[in-house]
Amino acid sequence: TNIAVFVSGSGTNLQAMIDRRLGRADGIVRTLKADIKAVISDRAEAYGLERARKHGIPAYAVDYGFYIQKHRGDREKAYREAEEEILSVLAKYDIDYICLAGYMRLLTPDFLKHFRKGPVYGVINIHPALLPSFPGMHGYEDTFNYGCKWGGITVHFVDEGKDTGPIIAQAVYPIWPDDTVESVRLRGLSVEYELYSQCINWIAEERLSFSRINSRTVISIT
Ligand code: GRF
Repeated sequence: TNIAVFVSGSGTNLQAMIDRRLGRADGIVRTLKADIKAVISDRAEAYGLERARKHGIPAYAVDYGFYIQKHRGDREKAYREAEEEILSVLAKYDIDYICLAGYMRLLTPDFLKHFRKGPVYGVINIHPALLPSFPGMHGYEDTFNYGCKWGGITVHFVDEGKDTGPIIAQAVYPIWPDDTVESVRLRGLSVEYELYSQCINWIAEERLSFSRINSRTVISIT
C-alpha cells in the first residue's frame, strides 16, 4: 500500500509513521504496513517537509498563498489550481491513500473525486477529539475547556464535510485534575501516533468492511 502524507505543521504524526516504517518506534503499534511515497505541505516552512527529506522521502510544498494572490482572493480558483499542482505531483507516484496529518486546508469535492474508492474516498484524517464532538481546528482546547474527563482521537475517511466522514477508529485517554491543555495535548498526541498507524495497517490488510446504516457509511474492522 502506497500513501502520501499531507502536513501543514511540525509533522510529529508523520514522524511516528516514519519511525514505525523503520521499526524504530517503541509503543504498541511497532510497524507501518505502507510505503510513504511523498509528503506534501501547503506551507514551505512546515517542519514536516524537513522530516521527510531527512529520510529520503520526496517532499513538496504547494504554495496556496501564491495562487490566492494570483487570483486576487478568489479562493475557489486558487484552490482549484493548488489542487491541480498537488494532483500532478501525486501522479508521479502510485498512491493508494492520502493521509492528512495536521493538514490545515480543506480539500474540495473535485479533488476528492480523483480518489474515489468504493463507498469512500481514499483520503483519511486524524482529528484530536471524539467526533462528532468538537470538530474544527481546536480539538484539544475544546475538549479541555468543556471540562471533559476523557479526551478522544478519531481517524476517519474524509468526505465533503468538515470532520464528518466515516469513522475508522477512535481511542480515548483520561484527563486528570491537574492537567493543562498542554499536558492533555501531549497525552493525546501519544495516542494519535499509535492509532493512525494502526488504522493504516488495517487498511493495508484490507480489514475494513463498509455498510450503510441510516444513510451513513459505517465501518467495521474484520
Ligand atoms: C494533530 O493533533 C492532529 O490530530 C491535528 O493536527 C495535529 C498535527 O500535529 N489534525 P503534527 O503536525 O502531526 O505534530
